[in-house]
Amino acid sequence: MHAYRASLLRFNPDRSAVYDEDGLLVVGPGPDGTQIVHAAGAWQELRARHAGLSITHWPGHLIAPGFVDLHLHFPQTDVIGSPAEGLLPWLEKYTFPHESRFHDPGHASEVAGFFLEELLRQGVSTALAFATSHPASVDALFTQAQARGMRLITGKVLQDRHSPDGVRDDTEQSLLDTESLIRRWHGVDRLGYAITPRFAPTSTPAQLRGAGELAARHPGVWIQSHVAENLAEIAWARELFPDSRSYLGTYADFGLMRERAVYAHCIHFDDADRQLMRETGAAAAVSPTSNLFLGSGFFDYAGADRVGFRYGLASDVGGGTSFSPFKTMLAAYCVGREGQTKPGLSLSPQHLWWQHTAGAAQALGLEGVVGNLQPGCEADFVRLDPRATPLLARKMAQVSSLDELLFALIVLGDDRLVVQTVLAS
Ligand code: GUN
Ligand code: ZN
Repeated sequence: MHAYRASLLRFNPDRSAVYDEDGLLVVGPGPDGTQIVHAAGAWQELRARHAGLSITHWPGHLIAPGFVDLHLHFPQTDVIGSPAEGLLPWLEKYTFPHESRFHDPGHASEVAGFFLEELLRQGVSTALAFATSHPASVDALFTQAQARGMRLITGKVLQDRHSPDGVRDDTEQSLLDTESLIRRWHGVDRLGYAITPRFAPTSTPAQLRGAGELAARHPGVWIQSHVAENLAEIAWARELFPDSRSYLGTYADFGLMRERAVYAHCIHFDDADRQLMRETGAAAAVSPTSNLFLGSGFFDYAGADRVGFRYGLASDVGGGTSFSPFKTMLAAYCVGREGQTKPGLSLSPQHLWWQHTAGAAQALGLEGVVGNLQPGCEADFVRLDPRATPLLARKMAQVSSLDELLFALIVLGDDRLVVQTVLAS
């Protein structure tokens, strides 16, 4: 067992934060050898009970749960910052050509290694990521994540139509490949598999049906896709699947909505869609920097909370513009201020931070496993230096509440805040 003494942030089940200015985090091996949290709380309260332990003391630093990125694309690491008129031209002009290179295991492995190092450098310890349609891209990302002991979920993209040569796959082979990748990787160390139809317009009904059958046979695996991001995309999806009640309804019709199903964007929803999310236990990956960059629209926070479905924050790199959870949380705040049907929502800093940690973990069905530092959680955490820049140091001298502290970090923070990311493996 080992203990860390510093300021300490964690979350209650009701989304509120618990903060100990002088805190102690005690970690040690859990039943499967992964480091878990044995105790967390105020130093004064815990010191006597843990008197014999070796303690690492980081005065002035803040220990917080490792961030959870609920949706991004590792093969789009080099697509960041590619402007286009909107989603569909962006896919055609930049994304598909970049992704077509990932049949090459050497290229896939080099990008996967860079991608994971960048996530860790930014404080992200868990991610649900798209690979490409090439099985080699999945092997590359899992291999690199396993070597680092990261909790990572990914899957081979399914896209057997309306996709150019080089990324389009074959219906039957794509489902066989998915099944063999599930058997090879799901549940190995800290890795998990996600059945990954890109989005309804690029899959035939036969491929979506096969994906739904795989999801039924493997209830522990995740499902990830995109939905209701962009008006042109929605019109296309409705044309291709006219019998479904809505675009989201198409996924339900093929058995692709259940717990552990994560849909990116979920912007242009009606209340029946929101109810479908709630009833099935599916979750939304809210990607504000991507939505702003591609001009897609804004996630409706009030609608989501009124109906009550799960959601969490995501970078959506490379539609998203940053790997930094601080940039994503700030963009989410701005979207709350201006992008709502009733503008002027003020998402609290605790709620923003929760969305990128405990909330995103809950969306993955990993509540109490990652995204928090309560006893029993896997001990993935970030060590932040709240005085990392001259402006932050100035600001820190003036904050007088937890909300002020967290807001300052969200608004002024970036990778300079992250001293290190410590993984539980
Ligand atoms: N919809 C289908 N594919 C993609 C993608 O790669 N990025 C985003 N943002 N939306 C998509
Ligand atoms: Zn995406």
